[in-house]
Amino acid sequence: MAMDQSLIKLVNKLQDAFNNVGIQNPIDLPQITVLGSQSSGKSSVLENIVGRDFLPRGTGIVTRRPLVLQLINRPAAPKANGEAAPAEGTNNTDEWGEFLHLPGEKFHDFNKIREEIVRDTELKTGKNAGISPQPINLRIYSPNVLTLTLVDLPGLTKVPVGDQPRDIERQIRDMVLKFISKPNAVILAVTAANTDLANSDGLKLAREVDPEGTRTVGVLTKVDLMDAGTDVVDILAGRVIPLRLGYVPVVNRGQRDIDQKKLVSAALAAEKDFFENHPSYRSKAQYCGTPFLARKLNTILMHHIRNTLPDIKNKIGTQLAKFQAELASLGGPMGENNSASVVLQIITEFCNEFRTVIDGNSNDLSINE
Ligand code: GDP
Ligand code: NA
Ligand code: MG
Repeated sequence: MAMDQSLIKLVNKLQDAFNNVGIQNPIDLPQITVLGSQSSGKSSVLENIVGRDFLPRGTGIVTRRPLVLQLINRPAAPKANGEAAPAEGTNNTDEWGEFLHLPGEKFHDFNKIREEIVRDTELKTGKNAGISPQPINLRIYSPNVLTLTLVDLPGLTKVPVGDQPRDIERQIRDMVLKFISKPNAVILAVTAANTDLANSDGLKLAREVDPEGTRTVGVLTKVDLMDAGTDVVDILAGRVIPLRLGYVPVVNRGQRDIDQKKLVSAALAAEKDFFENHPSYRSKAQYCGTPFLARKLNTILMHHIRNTLPDIKNKIGTQLAKFQAELASLGGPMGENNSASVVLQIITEFCNEFRTVIDGNSNDLSINE
């Protein structure tokens, strides 16, 4: 992935700085959200993008609270001479997850991350299919991810099951709308390829909040489960429901793969194999599959950030002026450990870095597709 990540890193840094002093989301950062019917494969898509197993997946309503997943690219520590990189599925000291509700606790075992997501979901919603709008916040540090924020959401559903309230459809819809309505949210509208695109709840809702289609990417899952002789070629060509940013077909692990603990790496290899050898997709295999989706997302995110730069800059300017006025009214600068002065210092540093990036890097941001 040749894309320049410096802008995203800077924005994450600013968010971290504000988080440290208890101000959350000072700026409306671009986030990638998944949207679609229950069991369309949303969690599977996110997991493949991340390249690790850690999300609860399966038939039925598995995702019952929003999961805000911040991926942070962090270079691997240098290895001792001759030391091999650890195999997938084993503990890796360079990759770990941390939950906001368990500060300081590093999860190196990604199975434990999944268990904690399930545990905390049940704690807040009960075991019986209840849902809650209260997000779980998880950060994953890894040398193998793009620096991105992704949001996994409960699927759109119509019929209440278990302890679900009668108005479950509206509750989930409202919860999902809260995330996808943000003007700078990028929407992955997930539809299973073995269902009718015209009935896609995800696409319908995406169109309500993004009628111009400037921030909606179509993702077609379960392409491997389509009836023989059928394919998504017409959809990809924009002849069914055109989307400005297009569609990406993917093949995730099926339930049996999950039960047999098929590794992500094996799944990605199988996906590549599928598209490269399928008569309908062979000629366009480079535009199919998870790696292409990840590249597309990165490009879109960069454009989003670039387009929101003027706004972010104004907000930082306003904050800066406010803190300066506050400091002045308190009789000038205070001690090093004062939180206001720490924020002021961080914002000043950020502004300087920010300017350098805007001035120096704007040429790197053009789309190369
Ligand atoms: P979600 O409810 O939208 O988050 O969907 P999940 O990711 O939990 O997946 C629901 C079920 O569909 C699981 O059993 C997955 O194994 C299966 N699944 C998802 N994507 C695919 C795919 O591309 N191919 C196949 N064969 N199964 C898939
Ligand atoms: Na599911
Ligand atoms: Mg899910």
